Amino acid sequence: MVGYAFMGAAHSQAWRTVNRVFDLPARASMVAVCGRDEAKVAAAAARLGWAEAVTDWRELIARDDIDVIDVCTPGDSHAEIAIAALEAGKHVLCEKPLANTVDEARAMVAAAAKARAAGVRSACGFNYRRVPAVSLMHNLIAAGRIGAVRHVRAVYLQDWITDPQFPLVWRLQKEKAGSGALGDIGAHIIDLTQFVTGQRITGVTGLTETFIKERPLVSDSSGLSASAGQATGEVTVDDAALFIARLDGGAVATYEASRFATGRKNALRVEVNGENGSLAFDLERLNELEFYDATRPTAEQGWSRILVTEGEHPYLGAWWPPGHIIGYEHSFTHEMRDFIEAVATGADPTPSFEDALQVQLVLDAVARSDASWVSVAT
Ligand SMILES: NC(=O)c1ccc[n+]([C@@H]2O[C@H](COP(=O)([O-])OP(=O)(O)OC[C@H]3O[C@@H](n4cnc5c(N)ncnc54)[C@H](O)[C@@H]3O)[C@@H](O)[C@H]2O)c1
Repeated sequence: MVGYAFMGAAHSQAWRTVNRVFDLPARASMVAVCGRDEAKVAAAAARLGWAEAVTDWRELIARDDIDVIDVCTPGDSHAEIAIAALEAGKHVLCEKPLANTVDEARAMVAAAAKARAAGVRSACGFNYRRVPAVSLMHNLIAAGRIGAVRHVRAVYLQDWITDPQFPLVWRLQKEKAGSGALGDIGAHIIDLTQFVTGQRITGVTGLTETFIKERPLVSDSSGLSASAGQATGEVTVDDAALFIARLDGGAVATYEASRFATGRKNALRVEVNGENGSLAFDLERLNELEFYDATRPTAEQGWSRILVTEGEHPYLGAWWPPGHIIGYEHSFTHEMRDFIEAVATGADPTPSFEDALQVQLVLDAVARSDASWVSVAT
């Protein structure tokens, strides 16, 4: 695994847990973790459960006892690490968004296609697909329970940079992150909505906004928290992105991604309206799925809350008895479960690099659509 901070910790938890919960055809062994600071990566290895720590990711790729490279670094290094790993015959799990640009994502897809021909697998870490309620939403829509999908409404709202004194961390720098709220959290709802509906976005128009254009430079940073220094620098990404879209199955959709939604910490909400019913998911209540079944007798219609903890619900047969709820980190355990099973059985894990490139193309289209803004006549 490369990178050991936020996602590094989430992935480590999942790698540690996955074989203890799921019966799989292969076992994960946590061979080595990479970070650039020798003392810090050694401490992280001990804390997170990795046998060894190294300071250059190339060392991981050169080793014969490593089969999988898990990329948990910011977007500016995804392409270089993933392509080198695939060329060395390592299976790759890469965090989202796949890359910082469409060109990088295309190069990663080319490397993945070449590697696939040699039995080497790759996938991108859109973990929210693996929340059981989201998986159930996908299954119900695929089974036709709400009929043709008309509307998709998705928001992903955070508020961690509303303070203008919050410093210029890597997520606010285009060369490190590619984009702001758009690529960081907007990418999640693009993937999630396309996954649950089985439809792909074919066109968009939207806007992006950067409310705070200068911020103090970082004096000490780890992950999402950082302390501010004296000098300031330019914010080169969006703080918020809003767009509308058409999907290839005839649905229309609205999306909102913001880091300025005061009071909203990690509010990912999706509603899908179909001709025969609707489904709604709220990450803050991730064990639940709301279902409105319009095929029921009129007198009995109404929103029902499905507690998604039954053994027959996706992934849950391996966990606890019904009603014993799960949390955020389980989505990563499920991601590793599906990845290990695919690699061990010679199948392609999902979402593929091709799927993730398509998300990147949507991000790119949203950013470009800003240029065709129509001003109201005076
Ligand atoms: N799936 C999700 O829900 C989710 C959530 C957060 C972040 N992410 C994604 O995960 C990735 C990492 O984000 P994060 O929040 O963990 O960031 P972070 O800042 O918490 O951690 C990044 C880690 O990468 C390390 N790193 C950076 N460049 C490196 C290099 N060249 N070699 C070795 N290590 C290097 C840093 O030292 C740090 O350990 C990003 O692509 C981000 O978009 C996904």
